Amino acid sequence: MASRILLATALVVLLAGVAETAPGKVCPQDVVQDASSPVPLSDVCIPEGYTDIPMDYFDDFSWREFVAMVWPAAQGKRGVADTKKTAGGPGPRVFETYKSLYELFHDDGSAPRTFNEYDPPSQNACAATTGFGDMVLGSKSGIDDIGQAGVGELVGPLVAQNGKYVRLQTLYNQTAYDYLVSHKYYLRANLPPVPTPRPDLPVMNFPMGSTIIKAAWLDLEGFTPEQKARFYSRMAIVKDANTGKCSKISMGLVGLHIVVKTPSRPQWIWSSFEQVDAVPPAAFGNPGKYTFNDGNKKNAMPAENPLKLIPLQPEPATPYNVTRSVMTPIHPKTELMSLVYQRLLQKTPWEFYQIATTQWPRLEGNQAAPVPATQGGEMTTTFPGAGATTAFANLTMETFDQTRPQLGCMSCHNQARMTVDFMWSVLDHAFPAKVGPAKSVVAK
Ligand code: HEC
Repeated sequence: MASRILLATALVVLLAGVAETAPGKVCPQDVVQDASSPVPLSDVCIPEGYTDIPMDYFDDFSWREFVAMVWPAAQGKRGVADTKKTAGGPGPRVFETYKSLYELFHDDGSAPRTFNEYDPPSQNACAATTGFGDMVLGSKSGIDDIGQAGVGELVGPLVAQNGKYVRLQTLYNQTAYDYLVSHKYYLRANLPPVPTPRPDLPVMNFPMGSTIIKAAWLDLEGFTPEQKARFYSRMAIVKDANTGKCSKISMGLVGLHIVVKTPSRPQWIWSSFEQVDAVPPAAFGNPGKYTFNDGNKKNAMPAENPLKLIPLQPEPATPYNVTRSVMTPIHPKTELMSLVYQRLLQKTPWEFYQIATTQWPRLEGNQAAPVPATQGGEMTTTFPGAGATTAFANLTMETFDQTRPQLGCMSCHNQARMTVDFMWSVLDHAFPAKVGPAKSVVAK
């Protein structure tokens, strides 16, 4: 009898800590910070009746995604985590084995291969033979992987203190990839037209669980060993920005965007990470050097990117100082969440990464309620919103967009919402590709 009462009491205590949302779905009152699993959350889990800004729930979602993406992949199985390893274990990471942009959008319009296959050498910018875990950084145009993203076009590049350009890479998980391939959306002619009157829902509709990555890499040449030790680095076949020749070199991860479409947030959840030594102030243990800043306060960040995309200044290019705008610092709660995960990931390179921002579609009232897909991704209906006082840009990928909330992730991608469900890359790269440099980054 006594044990029964005890059991019942224990149950009541247990249930007091959780709240019911959708039928069958119970969300803990506090987030369960966990870096020991390669399985991400299928959706953000917010307790029923929660009405504050759900920072922790979204930032925890971001970290769980990050851990899943950087987990070592199972040998020979693209996009599958090796459950026998830990987040810090060796080998290519899950996201690195996802299907890359150039495997989806062939420059001859030919059909992409199945998810687990690799293309013949002719399809990549280095004409390299590739297999499981290999990575090619470069583009046939020579600028597509160097120009930062503007509103559907390419803008100026980011150069690090060593004169090297940040190199960008886009990758699709199997759910997103199979969807695009099965509808033949790699061909522009097949992109669904937008009927008049304009419908409420986007004409393209990625399945739930679609996950798309944009990664930013840097050749760490000239960095001190102390600096290098704080990066996740790996070998990649890299197309030289000056000569177009390709060689195998070690590249460090400086930034990572992860966007995931979930049942409660069909506008996708937008997570963005940076390596912690990008700019001052010094993160704990920083060896006195920054990737994108010379440490001299007198050298302010320029208001506009001084570098053009065409012609591209040869490497080593002249670096400029990058700072995080004092108007839009990382949210203090986000910083706290990163501290917890950095501790959980101690003794792995991942302890040197942090969330820059998580963006999500906002709604009033009960935050556990799903946001209808008819709602857009305008500034006013997303966090951190039109009057943002915290970060909505990643220093390594939207360097000059830090103070213009209309150029937050969701607000900019919202312009591609109706046609391609927010995913600019489809609009830019479906064959024949339409991506090109903005007028402002082409020298007259
Ligand atoms: C000023 C506009 C703009 C902003 C701001 C912006 N992006 Fe993008 N983004 C683009 C464009 C354009 C592309 C496609 C580039 C290309 O064609 O290769 C892109 C590509 C991506 C991709 C690859 C998938 C795809 O099809 O779009 C991801 C993921 C992504 N961005 C995430 C983010 C996140 C996260 C943020 C905020 C931290 C952000 N973006 C901010 C314009 C923007």
